Amino acid sequence: MQQYTDIFDEIHRLRKERGAVILAHNYQRDEVQEIADHCGDSLALSQIAAASAAEVIVFAGVHFMAESAAILAPRKTVLLPNPDAGCPMADMITAAALREKKKELNGAPIVCYVNSSAEVKAESDICCTSANAVRVVESLPQDEVYMIPDMNLSLYVAGKTKKKLSYWKGFCPTHQLLTADEVRAFKIRYPGAPFVAHPECPPDVLALADAIRSTSGMYEYARKSDASTILIGTEMGIMYRLRKENPEKEFILVSRNLICPNMKITTIEDVRDSLRDMKHIIKVAEPVLSKARLALERMLAVPRD
Ligand code: 13P
Ligand code: SF4
Repeated sequence: MQQYTDIFDEIHRLRKERGAVILAHNYQRDEVQEIADHCGDSLALSQIAAASAAEVIVFAGVHFMAESAAILAPRKTVLLPNPDAGCPMADMITAAALREKKKELNGAPIVCYVNSSAEVKAESDICCTSANAVRVVESLPQDEVYMIPDMNLSLYVAGKTKKKLSYWKGFCPTHQLLTADEVRAFKIRYPGAPFVAHPECPPDVLALADAIRSTSGMYEYARKSDASTILIGTEMGIMYRLRKENPEKEFILVSRNLICPNMKITTIEDVRDSLRDMKHIIKVAEPVLSKARLALERMLAVPRD
């Protein structure tokens, strides 16, 4: 990290001047994670954004994450350092398409993965993340639910609940690339090493997993595991802190394709520029704000196990 000393100093100074907090998703570039006040998964970061006393939140992640922060903390200034950081999965469903779908659903509640636009959240009953999806579905009084937009997460939840679950057929183009053959090849090379996968992976990959976890869940798994080698099935940004926090353990990413271009688009210079120029402000207007907020707040109110 030596090469970043000057820009880190600049960011420290600007952060103080602006009264800002920097949040980074676990898939961000190593140096962006390094400068962040908090790294985390979608759930943790949205909770930190809601609770933070800072006036300015720099959200190093993708658009839907900064939007969730703007919904939960509407009086704060939420900055997305690179405005092109989107999520193709979130773009696979629109509010208009969901409204059409709802006509066929006989009132089944919509459980909306946070990887979605504010407009789509506003059409939904409750949000979930990969860390709490099963708990959220189980918390609902209805026996039938409809999940959007990730089919892989939905199928994973379907296997964990007795509720009748149907779902939208979106997916994460990065996790979708991971194949069961790739995982099997690493399992042969590292016999006995547990394989931990993100629930956005396809079902045949998840069938090979020893544990299925959100990104923060993977850090916890790594910390608690007795294994000296752990196989990882999620975006490569996770490797930085896994290795840093567990220097005695070996972490192997099971595919070279596990790179989300949208998570990598934000550079350390973008973080500096966002603080310096107070850009790019993410705001959600009413009535979408209040409706989306309700879906997010219902999720945050679901008790932890
Ligand atoms: P997490 O909530 O597990 O961090 O996942 C977010 C995401 O975008 C995964 O692709
Ligand atoms: Fe979206 Fe997948 Fe990238 Fe996560 S990893 S931000 S789901 S495209």
